[in-house]
Amino acid sequence: MSRTVYVNGEYLPEEDAKISIFDRGFLFADGVYEVTAVLHGKLVDKQGHLSRLRRSLSELDMPSPADDKEIEAIQRELLRRNNVTEGLVYLQITRGPAERSFFYPDPETTHPSLVLFTQAFPLIANPKAEQGIKVLTVEDLRWTRRDIKTVQLLPSSMCKMAARAQGKDDAWMVQDGYITEGTSNNVFLVKRNHIITRRLSNNILPGITRASLLAYAEEAGYEIQEVSFSVKEAQSAEEAFITSATAFVLPVVEIDGHLVGNGRPGPVGRRLRELYIAESLRRAE
Ligand code: PDD
Repeated sequence: MSRTVYVNGEYLPEEDAKISIFDRGFLFADGVYEVTAVLHGKLVDKQGHLSRLRRSLSELDMPSPADDKEIEAIQRELLRRNNVTEGLVYLQITRGPAERSFFYPDPETTHPSLVLFTQAFPLIANPKAEQGIKVLTVEDLRWTRRDIKTVQLLPSSMCKMAARAQGKDDAWMVQDGYITEGTSNNVFLVKRNHIITRRLSNNILPGITRASLLAYAEEAGYEIQEVSFSVKEAQSAEEAFITSATAFVLPVVEIDGHLVGNGRPGPVGRRLRELYIAESLRRAE
């Protein structure tokens, strides 16, 4: 049975869903997106993702085709129609179809496109949580507005492919000697029980999982330091981990062939993963 997806006001079988070849998302990557995790059929960090979506749209002067309530209703309807209890709901807004031009089209006569679909897969029972992931560091190839969650993802894909070519799970991107973030996640170290992560700026995406985890960790009594760190500093950390809507908290056990700690997932990362999942299950809406 095919999935039901949502495109511009309609719920359709995925093979019938269509977007114009003139859509600016297709021609200019002129679009923004959000990935929201689903646990027990409910949305995790729902408000955080909607707020970041609003900010992304506003930074790009992109009109929104729907308000938060409408988006939420579509998300829930898709979960219901596809019977998704665990996985994600993906949302994308583009500036819509317009004659090709580098100028934005007139918002009065252009209709932004809205697409949502679901993906069902286990998030909690992730074998990588037990094994940890291995990362390769690569030069950060992206633009300088990484704080906006645009669909311009080819540089991240290139970095991820470079990691795969070396038999690694993901790439950590490096700018001016300091790690910015993973290809689709935020990065953290643990040193002397302190949690260290890069501070927010235009250089990284303000991860929603990052924000929630830092709040839960602080409540649990961990000291948090928001500072940049080099590859060497990361390699000598006691533990390292990543966060994202789909990874939650995942341990990193190797950086450029150097083992982190003893090369096995550490206790702080494990505890934070448990904490994030417990709080998400409790708060999911
Ligand atoms: N990626 N940094 C980047 C570059 C990302 O693409 C993501 C998310 C994150 C983590 O953000 P959050 O915690 O809000 O998911 C950080 C999503 C999951 C994706 O592109 O599939």
